Amino acid sequence: MRNETKVVAITGASSGIGEATARRLAADGHRLFLGARRTDRLDALRREIEEAGGTAAFQRLDVTDAADVRAFVAAAHDLYGRLDVLVNNAGVMPLSPLDALKVGEWDRMIDVNVRGVLHGIAAALPVMRAQGGGHFVNVASVGAYEVSPTAAVYCATKYAVRAMSEGLRQESDGSVRVTLVSPGVTESELAEGISDPAAREAMKAYRAVALPASAIAAAIAYAVAQPAEVDVNEIVVRPTASAQ
Ligand SMILES: NC(=O)c1ccc[n+]([C@@H]2O[C@H](COP(=O)([O-])OP(=O)(O)OC[C@H]3O[C@@H](n4cnc5c(N)ncnc54)[C@H](OP(=O)(O)O)[C@@H]3O)[C@@H](O)[C@H]2O)c1
Repeated sequence: MRNETKVVAITGASSGIGEATARRLAADGHRLFLGARRTDRLDALRREIEEAGGTAAFQRLDVTDAADVRAFVAAAHDLYGRLDVLVNNAGVMPLSPLDALKVGEWDRMIDVNVRGVLHGIAAALPVMRAQGGGHFVNVASVGAYEVSPTAAVYCATKYAVRAMSEGLRQESDGSVRVTLVSPGVTESELAEGISDPAAREAMKAYRAVALPASAIAAAIAYAVAQPAEVDVNEIVVRPTASAQ
């Protein structure tokens, strides 16, 4: 039996977990609105979803720009008449030791991983309040629970996503659901942004046991599928073969 059809907007839908989540939620019958900077990828995904009988549209999105995120959410709302779920998934992970002093990369992680999620909340919360409910799915990481070398700033951003999600949940008026989904190592393009040679090399061994992105999509689909009175707050998904 199909879930109740929902309108779901996904940030960072052009690759990895966001792309897999779009495929999975479309197959579950939900109507999708996809955002990222690489619109050629989004258009190809939209076409694939529509050819499979699903419903999807897209808009170019840079989550570091609050006005852009507002316009993205407004476009989803204009198109479908409501917004039931916002998946705040866009993220970057240029790992390096702190003493490499890659201040620009620290700023970028804060801008995308922290400000991007806040921009999503600022854009979608008024829409959800006005329509009487909604659901934020914020993608954090196992790095939201423990810190490791080269990942201090990345983990800080994911601890922040966890804190913001819990705060949002506590402030909910009983109609807005909040789910934090924290993947362990998962197949995607995330590690391609690592410029530090040692961190890049270490990541190769770590990623040898990566989960398929569809495993994280399945966790998101589970949370989305629950009835309105059930708020799945946190899901951590690791490869069975990974200690971290
Ligand atoms: N893969 C893992 O092992 C893993 C583990 C834990 C947590 N995560 C988290 O999972 C989420 C998804 O990452 P992924 O693993 O699927 O990596 P990915 O394949 O690199 O995907 C990242 C997505 O974020 C988008 N993005 C980056 N900067 C953006 C910006 N400024 N505005 C809008 N979109 C932006 C990218 O699209 P464009 O470049 O086209 O904009 C892309 O669609 C991230 O939050 C990541 O931290 C991943």
